[in-house]
Amino acid sequence: VKSIAVLTSGGDSQGMNAAVRAVVRSALYFDIEVYGVQRGYQGLLNDDLRPMDLRSVGDILQRGGTVLQTARCKEFLTAEGQQRGADVLRSRGIDGLVVIGGDGSYQGANKLSKLGIKTMGLPGTIDNDIPFTDSTIGFDTAVSIVVDAINKIRDTMSSHERASVVEVMGRHCGDIALYAGLASGAETIIVPEVPYDMKEVANRMKSNFAKGKRHSIVVVAEGAAKGVDVAREITNSCGLEPHVTVLGHIQRGGAPTAADRILASQLGDFAVHQLMAGESAKACGIISGKLVATDIDTVVNSKKPFNMDLYELAIRLSQ
Ligand code: F6P
Repeated sequence: VKSIAVLTSGGDSQGMNAAVRAVVRSALYFDIEVYGVQRGYQGLLNDDLRPMDLRSVGDILQRGGTVLQTARCKEFLTAEGQQRGADVLRSRGIDGLVVIGGDGSYQGANKLSKLGIKTMGLPGTIDNDIPFTDSTIGFDTAVSIVVDAINKIRDTMSSHERASVVEVMGRHCGDIALYAGLASGAETIIVPEVPYDMKEVANRMKSNFAKGKRHSIVVVAEGAAKGVDVAREITNSCGLEPHVTVLGHIQRGGAPTAADRILASQLGDFAVHQLMAGESAKACGIISGKLVATDIDTVVNSKKPFNMDLYELAIRLSQ
C-alpha cells in the first residue's frame, strides 16, 4: 500500500484519538501517505479528506472524543452509497482504509472490501460488544467512569441507608454493567444477556437491608431495562423507593485510561502492518495479550460471548 485513509464512525469512544494517532504515525514511519476522513462514512461520501502529517495528531493521545469527528450515516447503508465511497477513495489513489468504530462501522468496511478497497477494522466502542477481542477501545475508560460514579453514589446512599438504581450504557451488551458492577460491589447487576426476576431483586434488597447492609445498589444496562422502570418495579414489589441515576453520555467522554491508550496504540499500529502485508477485510483485536486479525465477515456475524463466570462471581460477592 502506498496511501491509506483513516476514519472514526458510529458512537465515539475514549481512545479513538490514540488509535488515529497510531495509524497515522505508524503509516508515516513506513512511508505510507495517510488521509484523515472527517465525520466517518458521511465525510467519505462528501469527499471530506485531508492529508495527515506527524503534527496533525500531536497532543491528542490523551483526549476523549475524536478529532476526526464521527457520524451515523444512513446513506452508506445503501449499495450506491458504498460504491460512491469506494470511488472517492480510488479517485484519490487511496488503496487502504482503517475504520475505527463498532459493529455498524465494521459492516461498512466489509462492504468496501468487496468493492476492492483494502479495509481494516479497529474496535472503537465503549460497549465491549465486538467479538474476537478481549476488550474494545474505550471500554476500560467507560467502566472506570461508572465505578467512580457508583463510589460517590454509595457514599451518600450509606449515610442515608438508601437504595439506588444506576442505569449505564450498553445497547445490546451488558459488559459495562457487569464489569463496573463487580468492581463497585453492586448488589444486583441487570444485563440483557441474563433473564432476571424483579420480585427476586426486590426481595434480596429488602432482606439485605434487614441483615444490616447500609446501602443497596442496582446497576442496570440500558439494553436490559430503563432505570426508572426498574425502580418502579422495586417500589411495587417491596416498598423501597430507590433513587435513579442515568449516567448517559458522561460515560463516553473524558481522557482515556492508560489501558485504552495502550490498546489503541497497539491496534492502530497492527492495522497498518496488516495492510502492508496485503491483508484486507480483517477486524483487529487482542486476545490474551496477542494481537489477532479475524475475518470481518466472521466478526459481524458472531455475538460476543457473555462472561457468565464473572456474573456469578459478582452475585456471590455481593451478599
Ligand atoms: O454504542 C455506543 C453507545 O454509547 C451505546 O452504549 C448507546 O446506546 C449509544 O451509543 C448511544 O448513541 P447516541 O450517542 O447516538 O445516542
